[in-house]
Amino acid sequence: MDKAKAQQEIAKLRAEIERHNRLYYLEAKPEISDFEFDKLLERLIALEQEFPELMTPDSPSQRVGGGITKEFPTVIHREPMLSLSNTYSIAEVTDFCNRVEKLVEAEGGGTPEYVAELKFDGVAISLLYRNGLLVRGSTRGDGRQGDEITANLRTIPSIPLRLDSPGGSLFDSVVSGEIEVRGEVYMRKDDFERLNDERPEEERFANPRNATAGTLKLQDSAEVARRRMHFVAYFLKGIADETAPHMQRLRQLESMGFATGKHYKLCKEMTGIADFIEEWSEKRWTLPYETDGVVLKLNDVTLWDRLGATAKSPRWAIAYKYPAQQAKTVLQGVVIQVGRLGTITPVAELKPVKLAGSTVSRSTLHNFDEIKRLGVRVGDHVMIEKSGEVIPKVVSVVLDERPDATDAIEVPMFCPECGSVLVKPPKKDVKPQTTDTQLQKTEVSWYCPNEEGCPAQKRGRILHFASRNALDIQNLGESLVTQLVERGLASDAGDLYKLTLEQLAGLDRMAAKSAQNVLDALEKSKTRPYARLLFALGIRHVGAATARELAHACPSIDRLRDTSEEELAAVPDIGPVIAASIRDFFAKLWAQAMLEKLAEAGLPMQAEAAKALVNNNFEGQSVIFTGGLERHVRQQAEEMVRERGGRIVSSVSKKTTLVVAGSEAGSKLEKAIKLGVKVISEDEFERML
Ligand code: IVH
Repeated sequence: MDKAKAQQEIAKLRAEIERHNRLYYLEAKPEISDFEFDKLLERLIALEQEFPELMTPDSPSQRVGGGITKEFPTVIHREPMLSLSNTYSIAEVTDFCNRVEKLVEAEGGGTPEYVAELKFDGVAISLLYRNGLLVRGSTRGDGRQGDEITANLRTIPSIPLRLDSPGGSLFDSVVSGEIEVRGEVYMRKDDFERLNDERPEEERFANPRNATAGTLKLQDSAEVARRRMHFVAYFLKGIADETAPHMQRLRQLESMGFATGKHYKLCKEMTGIADFIEEWSEKRWTLPYETDGVVLKLNDVTLWDRLGATAKSPRWAIAYKYPAQQAKTVLQGVVIQVGRLGTITPVAELKPVKLAGSTVSRSTLHNFDEIKRLGVRVGDHVMIEKSGEVIPKVVSVVLDERPDATDAIEVPMFCPECGSVLVKPPKKDVKPQTTDTQLQKTEVSWYCPNEEGCPAQKRGRILHFASRNALDIQNLGESLVTQLVERGLASDAGDLYKLTLEQLAGLDRMAAKSAQNVLDALEKSKTRPYARLLFALGIRHVGAATARELAHACPSIDRLRDTSEEELAAVPDIGPVIAASIRDFFAKLWAQAMLEKLAEAGLPMQAEAAKALVNNNFEGQSVIFTGGLERHVRQQAEEMVRERGGRIVSSVSKKTTLVVAGSEAGSKLEKAIKLGVKVISEDEFERML
C-alpha cells in the first residue's frame, strides 16, 4: 500500500473508532461488537506500524497503552484543586444558600441560581488541552501539586485526546488556546467486581474508588487500559467567554466530547434543591457507578472569584453527602472459612435483610480482632452498612437490645476442616506508616498451617486453578471438586489431568455426558496462554496482572524458578513481597510435584513464541530519547526501536550508542555530546526505521 492510501485509510479508521468509542462510552448505544471494534483497532495499529510517520498523539491507538512509567513527575496546579465542604444535613444546605444569597446581595447581584449535580465517588483529576489536544493529565494530589499521569489517562476512552469542534469559528475559538477540564475518573461497579475476581483474595480492593486510585498509579499503562476506567467532567476553565455560566459550561463540555453524567439540574430555590437530593437518594443505586451525594454550585461563574474560598474549599459550592446505608438485623451464627492460602475468616450468618437495593444474609467479619473490637456475640442485634463498599459489613452492636442469652465467639483452636492447630504468624516488621493492607492483614489473621493436607486448602487451590480468569475450566464446580478431594482422586490441579471417564462418571450427580464435558474442558484448558497458568498456580500475592508481568519478564517456568529474588523484585509492579512469595512457592515440595504433573500433562510451561521483529535496523543499539518529539509519542517511538531489535536505556552512559534528540533537549543531550555518543534528529530517526 502506498503512503497516500494508508493516510486515507488511517484517517477513516480513526474517525470510525472514535465514533464507536463515543457510541459505547458516552451514549451507551454500541453499534458493533467488541470483537469488531478490536478488529478496527488492530487494523489501525498495523497501518501505523507500517507507516510510523503517520502516527499522531491523538490517534485512538494510543489508548491501548503499553509504556512503562517509572516515576510520575510532579505538576503544580495552575489553580489549586480545592475540595468541597461536606454536610449530611439539609438544614446546613439551606444555611449555605442563605449565606450565598447575602454575599451575592452585597456584591449587587440578584437571586442566585444553583446547579445541582451528582457527587461521583472516584478520583479527581485535571486535564490540560492545548489547541484542542490533550497535553497533560494529573491527579489532585494535595490540591496544590499532583502527579502527572498522562500516559495512564490517555487509555481512558471517555477522555477525548482531541476536543470536538464541530466547525463554526466561534466554537473553534472556544477550543483554541489552553483549556483545563476537571472531573472524576471512576470504575463501574460491574468492572470493579470483574477486576476483584481476578485478584488474589488478600489484594482485593474494598470499593471502586480505591480500585480507581490504585489503577491510576500503575506504572504499566496497558494494564490501566485493560481495567476499563471512565471519566466524567464537571469543571471547565479557559474558554473564550469567561462569563458563561456553569450550566452552559457543562453543555459545552458535552459538545467537546466529554461525559457529564447528564444528571444535573438548574435550581432556583431551596425546594428544587431538596427535591433533587430526595429524588437521587434511592435512584442512585440504579446507576452503574457509585455516587455518594449531591454537589451544589452557584451557576453564575463570575461570582465564584468574588466569593472566593476558605483555606480548603470554595464558598460558591457545597457537597451534601447521603448518610451511609444501614440496616438492623440479627447475628444468627458464625461460620469459619478456610481459604486456599489457609487464612481463617469468620463469616457472619445474618437474618436476611434488605439494604441498598439487595438482600443481605452473610457478611465477612474479617478476623477475630475485628470481632473483639465490635464486642459482638451470637444472638446480638447488629447494624450492617454499605458505604462505598460493595460487600456490606457489620459496623456495630445494638447493645440496648442484647437478648438475655447470647454466645461468645471464640477463636477456634483447630482448623474446622483438618483439625490442625491454628497459628498466627509473628508480627512482621511493619513500618508504622505503611498502607500495605496485606501486611496489616497478616498481623491479625489466623492460619491453618497444614498446606499440604488440609482439604479446604486443596479445594481452594483447585477451584482457583479452574476459575474464569485462571484456566477457565468449565463444569469444574464446587461440588465436583469437593468430591474429588474427599475421595482422594485429586490433591492438586496436576491430578485433574489424570482423571478417567470412569472415575468421573462414578461420582454423585455425574452422568456420563457431564463426565465427558469435564474431560473436554480439561483438554481445552491446555491451550490457554502461559500467563494464565502462572496466575492459576495460586502463588500468594500473584494476581492476574502480576502474572502477565511475570510472564513477560520470565517467559518460562524454568526461567521463573531460576530467577533470583533480587532480579524478580526489580521487575516493574513486582517488588520484594511478591518476589519472596514466588521463591517460597518454588521451594515447596507439593508445588514442585504439581508442576511436574502439569508439565507432563502438556500445559503451557512457557510463553508463546515472541512477536517477530519488524526489521533489524536497530540491532545492537542502546537508544535514548530526549526532548519533545514532534510526530511521535515517546512510548510508541521506544516500542518501534524494540520492534526493530534495539534496546531502550534510561540514562546516557558510555554504553549508549544513539541519542534521538527532540526539541528543547537538555542535560541528556549535553552528556551525550560530551561522551561522544551519536546524536540524531527525529527526521533521521524516521529514516532509520
Ligand atoms: S466540583 C472546587 N463536582 O468531590 C470544587 N466535585 O470534596 C471542585 N466530586 O475533589 C469540585 N463529584 O473529587 C465537583 N460533580 C462534582 C463532583 C465532585 C465528585 C469530588 C471531587 C472533589 C471532591 C470534593
